[in-house]
Amino acid sequence: MANWEYGGVYKKYNLVEDEIFNIDELGKVMVHDLTKGLPEFMKEADILFVDPPWNKGNLSTFYTKADKDYRLDSFEFFYTHLFNSIKEIHPKLCFVEIGKENLHNFIIEMKKIYKYVTFYNTIYYHKKNSLCYVVQGSDKRIKYDFDYMDEEDAIEWICSNIEYKCIGDLCMGRGLVGYNSYINNKKFVGTELNHKRLAVLVDKINNFKGVTI
Ligand SMILES: C[S@@+](CC[C@H](N)C(=O)[O-])C[C@H]1O[C@@H](n2cnc3c(N)ncnc32)[C@H](O)[C@@H]1O
Repeated sequence: MANWEYGGVYKKYNLVEDEIFNIDELGKVMVHDLTKGLPEFMKEADILFVDPPWNKGNLSTFYTKADKDYRLDSFEFFYTHLFNSIKEIHPKLCFVEIGKENLHNFIIEMKKIYKYVTFYNTIYYHKKNSLCYVVQGSDKRIKYDFDYMDEEDAIEWICSNIEYKCIGDLCMGRGLVGYNSYINNKKFVGTELNHKRLAVLVDKINNFKGVTI
């Protein structure tokens, strides 16, 4: 099985492009390319955590993995749409992960939306040399202790400790944000380009509930 089959769990679920898929009363997710506009239900989010592709090469790889027959012209085109969506949602608190190459661009975009912008030095894959950054935008001055934390632990901490009505993720992938929100009994909404990756979240939640499909 090719790497990007993600265990083939997508065959169990009918995730249809641009249709809302409900996960109990807690989650609403959609297979959707965020450059095609913001689905209305995403505006339910009062906090966002997004881990988007970090550069043009990474972006193209995700389109390949999603079996898309088109590619975006530039990374700037992608992140302009990403930040336009963030602006439309305008959650009280927003976290966006990024690598060094585009950190400055994401800070510039975040500053167009929020009064207070900061970033944390974080890591990924629990490897101390795999560096990344979490850019934070908010309407009030706020600072968390995320420096040197793994991004996965930061997501876990956010979902269990920050008070929110609904957390949103515009690039859900295999659903770390949705899963952590679900196990904390909190609402979540999200979009993801690749139905195979999104199905991993749905399956993981079913496994957590002990449901076999
Ligand atoms: C770094 S991964 C996110 C990982 C995620 N945090 C998780 O828990 O798996 C980036 C995700 O963005 C998705 N993506 C890429 N381009 C997109 C687009 N135009 N619209 C929506 N999602 C997109 C990719 O398919 C990929 O799953």
